[in-house]
Amino acid sequence: MGTRGRLITLEGGEGAGKSTQTATVVDWLQGRGRRVLRTREPGGSPLAEAIRALVLGQWDEGVTPQTELLLMFAARAAHVAATIEPALARGEDVVCDRFIDASWAYQGAGRGLDDGVLGTLETLVLGRLRPDLVLLFDLPPDIGLARAHRRGKGNRFEAEDLAFMTRVRQGYRARADADEDRYALIDAAAAPDQVRDAVRRVLEQRL
Ligand code: TYD
Repeated sequence: MGTRGRLITLEGGEGAGKSTQTATVVDWLQGRGRRVLRTREPGGSPLAEAIRALVLGQWDEGVTPQTELLLMFAARAAHVAATIEPALARGEDVVCDRFIDASWAYQGAGRGLDDGVLGTLETLVLGRLRPDLVLLFDLPPDIGLARAHRRGKGNRFEAEDLAFMTRVRQGYRARADADEDRYALIDAAAAPDQVRDAVRRVLEQRL
C-alpha cells in the first residue's frame, strides 16, 4: 500500500488572493514530483458544486445562519467522500481553496454560531481528517473588502460589512495561534510576488 497524500488548505477573508496562491502551491508540489489534486469549497464534487450555487446565491427570503451552516457542511460531506478521501488514498496531495477553518471563521466567529454545534458537525463530516497544513492569508478587512469589491463577483459574503470581516479575521487568527505546527500565517497585504515568495518559503520549511 502506498503512502497517503497530504491535505493542504488555503484560508483567509475576502480579497486575500488565495485563489492565485493556490496555483503557487500546486506548482511547487508538482515541481517536486507530487501528484496533486486542486479543489475548493464550498464545492469540489458535482453534488457539492450544486450546493455551492444554493449557499452563495441571493434569496429573497434570506438565508439564516443555521441554513448556511448546514449547507456548508452538507457540501463538505459530499466533497470529502467523493473527492478528497479518494485522492488522499491514491497518494495524491490535495490542495483545497478553503476548508473546515472557513466554517469556524465565517459561521462560528462571523455569524456567532455555537462552538459545540460546529465541533459536532466537524466530527460527523470529517471524522479524523484534518488539514496537514493550513496557509492563512491574513490582511486588514478594509483592504480585503476593497479588493473584493473591485473584483466585483458579489456573492453574499462580499456584501458583509467590516465588523463581520473583522470577526472572521479574529476567528482565523485565534485558530492559527492555537496550533502553530499546522498553521502558517502569511501577510496577504504584501504585493502578489512577495506573497508568492512567502508561500514558497513556508512550503520549503513545512513539507
Ligand atoms: P468564493 O467566491 O469561493 O470566495 P473566495 O474567492 O473569497 O474564496 O466564495 C466562498 C465564500 O463562502 C466565501 O465568502 C467564504 C464562504 N464560506 C463560508 O462561509 N464557510 C465555509 O465553510 C466555506 C468553505 C466558505
